[in-house]
Amino acid sequence: MSPTRAPVPPVPARTARQLREATSSARRRHRADPDLNPLRKGLRLERVPDPCCFVLFGATGDLAHRKVIPAIYQLWRTNLLPAEFSLVAVARRPYTDEAFVAEIRASVEANSRVRPIDEGAWAELAKRITYQQLDFGGDAGFDRLSERLDALDEERGTAGNRLFYLATQPSQVTEIVHQLGRVGLDHELRGAGWRRVVIEKPFGRDYESARRLNHEVAKVFRESQVYRIDHYLGKETVRNLLVFRFGNGIFEPVWNRSYVDHVQITVAESLGVESRGAFYEETGASRDILQNHLLQLMTLVAMEPPSSFHADALRDQKLQVLRAITTPDTEHVRHDVVRGQYGPGWVEGAAAAGYREEPEVDPESETETYVAGRFTIDDWRWSGVPFYLRAGKRLPKRATEIAIQFKEVPLPLFRESTGDPAANVLAMRIQPDEGIMLRFAAKVPGLGLDVRTVNMDFDYGTSFAVDSPDAYETLILDALLGDASLFTRADEVEAAWAVVTPIIEGWAAMPAPRFPNYAAGAWGPEAADELLERDGRRWRRI
Ligand code: BG6
Repeated sequence: MSPTRAPVPPVPARTARQLREATSSARRRHRADPDLNPLRKGLRLERVPDPCCFVLFGATGDLAHRKVIPAIYQLWRTNLLPAEFSLVAVARRPYTDEAFVAEIRASVEANSRVRPIDEGAWAELAKRITYQQLDFGGDAGFDRLSERLDALDEERGTAGNRLFYLATQPSQVTEIVHQLGRVGLDHELRGAGWRRVVIEKPFGRDYESARRLNHEVAKVFRESQVYRIDHYLGKETVRNLLVFRFGNGIFEPVWNRSYVDHVQITVAESLGVESRGAFYEETGASRDILQNHLLQLMTLVAMEPPSSFHADALRDQKLQVLRAITTPDTEHVRHDVVRGQYGPGWVEGAAAAGYREEPEVDPESETETYVAGRFTIDDWRWSGVPFYLRAGKRLPKRATEIAIQFKEVPLPLFRESTGDPAANVLAMRIQPDEGIMLRFAAKVPGLGLDVRTVNMDFDYGTSFAVDSPDAYETLILDALLGDASLFTRADEVEAAWAVVTPIIEGWAAMPAPRFPNYAAGAWGPEAADELLERDGRRWRRI
């Protein structure tokens, strides 16, 4: 059944025309003030969003403090936000504007990627930050918010454009979206400015709940107004994957089942669950990383070239991949998907507690902190090529990598003299030391005919000598510019859950392995190695 949109609420007190007239005088004032308007200082860069209000729900939470607000500061500092900008911080706790600004300044200082803070830029941004206390469950707060945003349009020239960023608990999303609809804050009608909503992951906890959530959101916002964040898509090296594949002619001819033996995608973390034990107990690695980050990386590797980089052209192709992944049945889950949980051990030279000893974790928890699986894509390009995906916490190091292993030569002329028959690997390092490496066979200098594999390496740091933006900077700017290419669409999220839900359900129906089954600091459980050994392969040593 297609979702029905809520009935259009009564026309707001001020018409779009009144709103435009009210805001245009404020905008003129701001344009005239050289301190407020970077354009007048000749600093504004090309892609600057429209005047707008950024309404941040969950503004006192960890995500807002560590990622969202530092990213906004960074965009502001580099003149990528309009002078007519306002950040409305929304949360339950009472704060004065001054107290809130002082608190987030400390967070920006701690989390900004460029330090020390630029005092002038911070002072200008701070003038544009206001705090609004709001109880998500009641009507009154949303009524007040709506009035406040209207007032800011006049004071700050924000022109009725609003981005609602939901950095809240997932359980609060439906309620907030419903309230935004009730007070008419979703309405883009009659030229009163654009309205967009950014929703953080996790988006649902299985296929059915994701569908329900999509349905609820669609009652209020059109799909083109919804921006579902997967921050991996904003990472510089992930975006470069698109350029690498579709900006170069030489890789495409070999990017298929005729030349590729298999693909490995790894998201390894050395950290444990830190202070997020309660969240992680409900999530586990399959929901936390496999359903989103890993499958998104897989779609970018496997998708057909889009006809353009228009959001829907790109997302249509990613969707085709997700839909073509073989849906795991019980047998597949049993044989081709491995789960693990870390016990005590040593990571990067320090003793690490086991998962079950972490704060807020059940001492008999059966939540997986590691997942690895063998997936196949039923299409002409990839039929028969396994994609091995793995993600885990408390692994020996932090490393995200995509490795394309090419097939062996048809006639191995140098078999006796080479140590590595599968010579050709293309490894894309997403983090931490971003780059791309191509391995090939080379003759060892000398009179004999010894062959060894060598690496041809591209390193971001040395080639460009500039810092990459944080993923949140990229994604927030894109959302403000109305570019949804790097955000997941409703059907994509559901298709990803269609792959992962049978795994979660399959596990629930079978006895859990004896957890813990890998020590903190090891590369996951033995069963993950066996998964590849069965196919005559092994995980790359990263
Ligand atoms: C988040 C997960 O989405 O990604 C975390 O919820 C994980 O558990 C994080 O640690 C990893 O992101 P990054 O950018 O550090 O690789």
